[in-house]
Amino acid sequence: MAILEVDKVTRRFGGLVAVNNVSFAVAEGEILGIIGPNGAGKTTLFSVISGFIPPSDGEIRFAGESIVGVSPDRLVRRGLVRSFQVVQTFADMTTLDVVTTAALTRRPIREAIDYAAHVLTRVGMAGKELLTPATLSLQDKKLLELAKCLATDPRCILLDEVMAGLTIAETEAPMAIVRELNSQGVTIVMVEHVMPVIMRLATRIVVINFGEKIAEATPEAIVKDQRVIDAYFGEHLDA
Ligand SMILES: Nc1ncnc2c1ncn2[C@@H]1O[C@H](COP(=O)(O)OP(=O)(O)OP(=O)(O)O)[C@@H](O)[C@H]1O
Ligand SMILES: [Mg+2]
Repeated sequence: MAILEVDKVTRRFGGLVAVNNVSFAVAEGEILGIIGPNGAGKTTLFSVISGFIPPSDGEIRFAGESIVGVSPDRLVRRGLVRSFQVVQTFADMTTLDVVTTAALTRRPIREAIDYAAHVLTRVGMAGKELLTPATLSLQDKKLLELAKCLATDPRCILLDEVMAGLTIAETEAPMAIVRELNSQGVTIVMVEHVMPVIMRLATRIVVINFGEKIAEATPEAIVKDQRVIDAYFGEHLDA
């Protein structure tokens, strides 16, 4: 069954069509990869799906129901959560505060604090509970973005470049977390430029170029698709 259906979604910013008539469906329990050049519209697509900005046109269904016009906090309670490409931090909150806030989605405060500590340990950040996010390394900031998502107990996570800027060795921890989550039944949609990661994790890949979907196939088929090679792999295959 499709948990997420994106149906002819368009998003314009003035005269710019950032997302143009894009359709795809994500099966429950799948790991779908989304790739495309810088400025292709991937983050805009996530912002539209997760309720941060409305689509200009089109329909989006989550678990069979339309979610157009539903606010991000309500979507998180329904089990749809997104991470942010540009890591968002608050100067006066500790990492534990940040993850506790996310955990409050489904738990009372005492439980939320305990659960947040558990989630931080799970992503490999034990001992960093009382640091402020601004002082964290890029790798830890990315892990914190993952922890925030996990703490909401999602059914489906939209991950926007959580591996960007990490060395291949540093991607091992977040990759293991994604695999483990997926093995527990969580559906994953991930935008990622790090090709070895997307090739190893994704069951299917959607390619976006200038706002339009230009391909959708298995990772093996995608790397042989001439339109995808022309649009994207020229600069990214050996990344
Ligand atoms: N709030 C906004 N207002 C106006 N234009 C925007 C806005 N957000 C994005 N855009 C434009 O929409 C296009 C798509 O941007 P988007 O950030 O979605 O691309 P992307 O595929 O995520 O790129 P990257 O790989 O660099 O993260 C770009 O031309 C961008 O400048
Ligand atoms: Mg982006």
